[in-house]
Amino acid sequence: MEKKIINDYISSNKERFLNELLDLLKIPSISADNKYSADVLKTAEAVKTRLIEAGADKVEVCPTKGFPVVYGEKMIDPKLPTVVVYGHYDVQPADPLNLWDSPPFEPVLKKTAVHPDGAIFARGACDDKGQMYMHVKAFETMMKTNSLPCNVKFMIEGEEEVGSPSLGPWIIENKEKLKGDVILISDTSIIANDTPSIDAGLRGLAYMEVEVTGPNRDLHSGVYGGAVANPINVLCKMIASCHDENNHITIPAFYDKVVELSADERTEMAKAPFNLDDFKKDLNVDDIRGEKGYSTIERTGIRPTLDVNGIWGGYTGEGAKTVLPSKAFAKISMRLVPDQNSHEISELFQKYFESVAPKSVKVKVTAHHGGEPVVVPITSAGYIAASKAMEETYGKKPVPTRGGGSIPIVALFKKELGLDSILFGFGLDSDALHSPNEHYGLFNYYKGIETIPLFYKYYTESTK
Ligand code: BES
Ligand code: MN
Ligand code: MN
Repeated sequence: MEKKIINDYISSNKERFLNELLDLLKIPSISADNKYSADVLKTAEAVKTRLIEAGADKVEVCPTKGFPVVYGEKMIDPKLPTVVVYGHYDVQPADPLNLWDSPPFEPVLKKTAVHPDGAIFARGACDDKGQMYMHVKAFETMMKTNSLPCNVKFMIEGEEEVGSPSLGPWIIENKEKLKGDVILISDTSIIANDTPSIDAGLRGLAYMEVEVTGPNRDLHSGVYGGAVANPINVLCKMIASCHDENNHITIPAFYDKVVELSADERTEMAKAPFNLDDFKKDLNVDDIRGEKGYSTIERTGIRPTLDVNGIWGGYTGEGAKTVLPSKAFAKISMRLVPDQNSHEISELFQKYFESVAPKSVKVKVTAHHGGEPVVVPITSAGYIAASKAMEETYGKKPVPTRGGGSIPIVALFKKELGLDSILFGFGLDSDALHSPNEHYGLFNYYKGIETIPLFYKYYTESTK
């Protein structure tokens, strides 16, 4: 009965729920680019307004050293459990702009093969405005239909895409305010719209920048070429040396703390549906590549990686310029798995990189933001409630998966607040997160709004 009331409320407000999200998507809240600071702040204010309208109390835009955290709550009874919802209102930069079929901050609806009901195309549609806003609308729905079964607190940040530098200190200062029982996050993916799944872990991240310096100035590549180390050639060789012929990472001690899964656990993981041909077709690649001895799902879920994210130096302008560059640069990220530690891995990387540099160059290694890997016990009350909720709305029990991406703050929620995070994502990996033409399926958006209240219900019931 209650379920019908909830679903009727969602159906009769469908269009408004969508239009409100579209409005939010029009604000370019790019946290990485200073030019957009005012827009990031504007988005925080918009989220605040929406939380108030949805029925939250004590809604505030909490200042931090960086972009603010939007907080709001509904405490109905201190004896009932408290769900703490986390999400982020900032988005990735939109470039390369020329590869978008429509402007990134002018959302449009289009049907795709994967989303026959239509999808919203805009930066942040899936990551994370669309997924975050499902929680605001699910909360409104529960408020308006008198079906909120427990307390709720919202913590929506504006710096996730730049590594959440201010949120860590903010949660440490606000432990009392954030007292709760479980963290609920929709910022991950499911396997497919007919195959629900819940991430039972996320990888961590160590992000490095390297600078290789050769001669004190750019040189004529004819006059000097052949006699002086070219920093770009050297850097490429150093990077290539980070993997062996089996695509194992060669940095000494890199794997020392990696938890190997048991044969049983690997068999369990292999049950998740995965089609290699579809995978290749989606990416338009003829073959895949990865660490020997592991499946694709394992390579993105339970194994660490080392990847160059960007590399530059020398002449990259139009035409040809014969130059032997003075400097070469690269940004290199390593995805980490339990029990690797981002600080230790950054140090190992630095030592290794310095050790493989020939005397003919100088090398400088610096660490950017990082984050620790996490596992979420699938036996926890939160996971079970999430699983039941999805089973009810998808008609299928969700598969436990390991997410390849990172949400660095999740490990801190555990460490500082003692809380497990339930990774209740509804997006698809094919939704082009961080890429041109990011989108979010309407099916996914509404399915999330419908499923979230069931999480609250089952979670609350489980604590009685
Ligand atoms: N929502 C993603 C993380 C994600 C996406 C996890 C899909 C699992 C599946 C998040 O916004 C993100 O992009 N995180 C960054 C971390 C960072 C910028 C420190 C990442 O994973 O690169
Ligand atoms: Mn995200
Ligand atoms: Mn992201």
